[in-house]
Amino acid sequence: MARRKKIYEGKAKILYEGPEPGTIVQYFKDDATAFNAEKKDVIEGKGVLNNRLSEFFMSGLNQIGVPTHFIRRLNMREQLVRSCEIIPLEVIVRNYAAGSISKRLGIAEGTQLPRPIVEYCYKDDSLGDPLVTEEHIAAFGWASQQDMDDILSLALRVNDFLSGVMLAVGIRLIDFKIEIGRVYEGDYQRLIVADEISPDSCRLWDIETGQKLDKDVFRRDLGNLADAYSEVARRLGVMPKSAVSKPTLIN
Ligand code: TMP
Repeated sequence: MARRKKIYEGKAKILYEGPEPGTIVQYFKDDATAFNAEKKDVIEGKGVLNNRLSEFFMSGLNQIGVPTHFIRRLNMREQLVRSCEIIPLEVIVRNYAAGSISKRLGIAEGTQLPRPIVEYCYKDDSLGDPLVTEEHIAAFGWASQQDMDDILSLALRVNDFLSGVMLAVGIRLIDFKIEIGRVYEGDYQRLIVADEISPDSCRLWDIETGQKLDKDVFRRDLGNLADAYSEVARRLGVMPKSAVSKPTLIN
């Protein structure tokens, strides 16, 4: 097979040049990092699960008319996506308080927020992805006012979709992060959901027990991360448990 050109390697994924112009192959690694990569590990099977789960959420969004970068899954660890210019913002939507908003504002984790709250962080690892306001975004030209209107509407549509899908399988969507890409079509440009949507970038709590089924399991040492992600995949019917568990020896 011809050697592919690596475009970028991040903490959890590698991007390769795609087979056709305007496409990219997104490879999901097993690496897990937290606290800006201060904590690291390799979680066997995480990449396979996130590839499937991101496929599930992104293709569902495409089907309801929320544009995403997802084209199709290629294999266990890779998907073909549309290449786009990533807007340097992490767009966070919160339905319940947890994580940094709980610390910052002193709200107990699990408290329902009066309405979904959208926050923006400037994507820069060396600065630890600081929280920024729309004032910073406009002043530094990271996105225009029209972009911000479109980003807000995309983020809220993703929130409604994901909340509903998760609720149907007994999981509460506490919060999530998405990234937005810019694509050019002739003289026009439009914004699409890019990167990934997976338990790496969401907080997911079991509605009955409150059990955490997301990357907080790794961040806070609460158990086996691959088991938590497999449970999400199993409930969504995305992947049978047998496909992600280790082979067992038959005597
Ligand atoms: P936070 O409470 O730490 O600000 O995280 C909010 C949401 O964003 C949570 O679902 C986890 C997700 N997230 C990422 O996907 N990447 C990150 O680098 C961080 C800090 C959070």
